[in-house]
Amino acid sequence: MNKFFLHLGKQPLANNYLKYYSKNQVKYNLNLFFNTKDKLVSISKRIPSKKMFNNNYPYKSSMSLTMRRSFLDLSKEIKKRFNPNLILEIGSNDGALIKNFDKNNAIGVEPCSNLAKITSNKGYKTYNNYWNFKLAKKLKKNIKKIDLIYSANTLTHISNLNDVFKSLAYLMPNDGILIIEDPSLMECIKKVSYDQFYNEHIYVFSAIAVKNLLDKFDLELFDINNLSTHGGSLRYYIKKKSNNNVKIKSSVKIQIKKETKFGLNKFTTFKKFAIKTINSKNSLLKLIKKIKLNKKIIIGYGATAKATTVLNYSKIDNNHIDFFLDTTPDKSNKYMPGKKIKILKYNQNLLKGVDYIFLGAWNFKNEILKKEKKFIQKGGKFITHIPMPKIF
Ligand code: TMP
Repeated sequence: MNKFFLHLGKQPLANNYLKYYSKNQVKYNLNLFFNTKDKLVSISKRIPSKKMFNNNYPYKSSMSLTMRRSFLDLSKEIKKRFNPNLILEIGSNDGALIKNFDKNNAIGVEPCSNLAKITSNKGYKTYNNYWNFKLAKKLKKNIKKIDLIYSANTLTHISNLNDVFKSLAYLMPNDGILIIEDPSLMECIKKVSYDQFYNEHIYVFSAIAVKNLLDKFDLELFDINNLSTHGGSLRYYIKKKSNNNVKIKSSVKIQIKKETKFGLNKFTTFKKFAIKTINSKNSLLKLIKKIKLNKKIIIGYGATAKATTVLNYSKIDNNHIDFFLDTTPDKSNKYMPGKKIKILKYNQNLLKGVDYIFLGAWNFKNEILKKEKKFIQKGGKFITHIPMPKIF
């Protein structure tokens, strides 16, 4: 049974950066639910994938040094630990991971054609498709053996998880490895990062929920790593239950025990999270309004989908935040979804005269603080809402 616990207001499509501001941008109710049976946390409204992942998807994984490093480290680990002949990446984006592999050893699947083009132009076989059973069948027919399947920050975007895992189990050989990586529900709740939820992020996974899902398809976890990316993620290592050659590491039991102790299997945990989220929203708006009373300049840094959730939920507008800075070319000179706040192409000179930076990309805090030493030395301050709104 799905039980409602939080309403995050009316939200536009989180990656719909418009060139011309429109008051009439379509917005959808963003409501969060907890499933008491399988322990999955999800949003209720399902927008058709084609509306969200299309020919001009702006998000590029390679834009951040942190992500480039994380993918490089993972590629080294994959080669050393599993030595696969062929890997398939689902949601290969602009190739941030597969570019670390030889062109003959890696294949991508990417529904956004602007991104799929980037990797295919570099010589990587890239299927410009959504992940589903039809594609899994095609791949099984056309490709001899895929040893390892990897997917980061993608499966949580697909509504029909049963189809997702049925397709994965079908394509995996008996000794195949599946690695998936997504924001951790426990970290999300601990950090009160309600902004992990937006129309594209249909689910935020816990190890408990992933285990329940895998059980249905005779798959099982054999290792779990905690990562610092995206505000705290989990990397799940998965095999077929029938494959007894791979040892199950203690990390699996440890993570599930931690999550159970934390209460990720109980509805009350999410009710408490909802109260903290409402408090966080109110105190962020109060803090920003107080700063504006003193006529100080606040800008946003990192025009993230997460920031879209925060702005639209907390009712923060262009009378609070002058503009956002972002390094992504496809976001430049467009508006934050649902808001008349312009995004400017990152240039350090634009920080002149700025008093406060609201961290839209709080998950890259360390990378950003390192980059903006000058701003800090000159007395510039940051605002973050994680784990609770504050100035630092
Ligand atoms: P994400 O949190 O969804 O990964 O998005 C990060 C966004 O922040 C992306 O649009 C790139 C942007 N960004 C900057 O503009 N400057 C930076 O230094 C970093 C790390 C990210």
